[in-house]
Amino acid sequence: MKKHILLILTGGIAAYKCLEFIRRARDQDYHITCVTTAAAEKFITPLSLTAISGEPVYNDLFDRQAEADIGHIALARRADLIVVAPATADFLAKMAHGFADSLASAILLATEKPVLIAPAMNPSMWHHPATQDNLALLEKRGIYRIGPGMGAMAEAETGMGRMAEPLEILEAVNDLLTAQRAKDVLSFTHSLSEPLSSLDPPARAPIDAQQDVGEKTSLQGYRALVTSGPTREPIDPVRYLSNHSSGKQGHAIAAALAQRGAETLLVTGPVSLPDPPDVTVQKVETAEEMLAACQDALPRDIVVCAAAVADWRVAATHMQKLKKQESGTPPSLVLSENPDILKTISQMTEDRPSLVVGFAAETENVLQHAIAKRLRKGCDWLVANDVSPATGTFGGDRNEIHLLDGATIHSWPRMQKTDIADRLAEEIAQYFRAVSCLE
Ligand code: PMT
Repeated sequence: MKKHILLILTGGIAAYKCLEFIRRARDQDYHITCVTTAAAEKFITPLSLTAISGEPVYNDLFDRQAEADIGHIALARRADLIVVAPATADFLAKMAHGFADSLASAILLATEKPVLIAPAMNPSMWHHPATQDNLALLEKRGIYRIGPGMGAMAEAETGMGRMAEPLEILEAVNDLLTAQRAKDVLSFTHSLSEPLSSLDPPARAPIDAQQDVGEKTSLQGYRALVTSGPTREPIDPVRYLSNHSSGKQGHAIAAALAQRGAETLLVTGPVSLPDPPDVTVQKVETAEEMLAACQDALPRDIVVCAAAVADWRVAATHMQKLKKQESGTPPSLVLSENPDILKTISQMTEDRPSLVVGFAAETENVLQHAIAKRLRKGCDWLVANDVSPATGTFGGDRNEIHLLDGATIHSWPRMQKTDIADRLAEEIAQYFRAVSCLE
């Protein structure tokens, strides 16, 4: 059955790009209904939207005829997914604060369906704390976001705030609807009281599980970079902040890529594993050192970020060991945010690697968080794993992952980390083989 997308257009110059989005979405057999704000109609006419979508355009909360025909509640319910594009700063503020003063806002207040926003605005408006606070609120409520990216603005400025391209938005739509389907399957099967682990993984293009070395697809001529292990963020000369990553997953991936002939550099935090064979290893301690080592290694064809990078570091590291106070008052640590290596590489505008693979370590709602993370970071593929203590993922030999490749979610059964690495490296090699056939 055709999936239904409700596209809400707000008042930005990027509204014109939505015609292309609608056309491409209809090519993929989506049914599109448009809702415009008054400001949107300053940039694009309902007539063009109707012509391209083949559907009436709705804009008035108090239109008796439209309310009698379908009504805003029905519009909200009929959609499988709501896309807001372009999403202006003003409209994001309305969404964040629950306004219902237009048909578009009222629909968003009435819906329980997934909502994807594609912000577009001037860089100063994007960076303003008010906009960033509104985004944080929306993100906390589970709203998905694609973009914005860097680029030229209508006002002859360059910066962050350019709306994602129509095909990128469509890819995000595909991701979200696939995830929704996967979630429906999971909850349906779960309601039959089968244990979740007994679910068969969804069908996918077969890869022979038992290939011997001779049958592995070659990555000869490609250059790969893999991050692995934890980072350690010093508090003082003897103490640090870190996590439980052992490096087993990341090191196995580096080994599997090298086994297929890729010239592989492994940038790793402190682990107690031997260096993988045929891999150049660079050891680092902190997130900042890891980023610098990765940047020095670029350009590369393939980047896999499997490291558990500490999100925060101590803002001012103490030069001497912190002493206990007579008063018994513990020291307070001020943290600052570490650079995001995966995001930095994914969003490079020059010499970006052809394939950037991130990981998502989650403890709840694994798929939903992973989908949002892939969009936020901008990587091509994302490997999602559950790291709740009961799974033993951190430090253990086995893992269970979902591979999000932008079109589909592939759920693999629980297996050895070395087998996951081998299968992932095979997927990567097959991807490059397919791309080279097209060239
Ligand atoms: O090392 P093991 O014991 O074998 O365990 C494997 C693992 C659980 C560490 C691995 O499978 C895994 O999930 N790695 C990613 C851990 C993580 O930091 O996930 P995250 O969801 O917090 O981060 C998302 C992505 O952004 C990751 O690709 C991470 O490498 C990257 N990141 C995060 C923060 C940051 N400052 N820079 C980054 O590059």
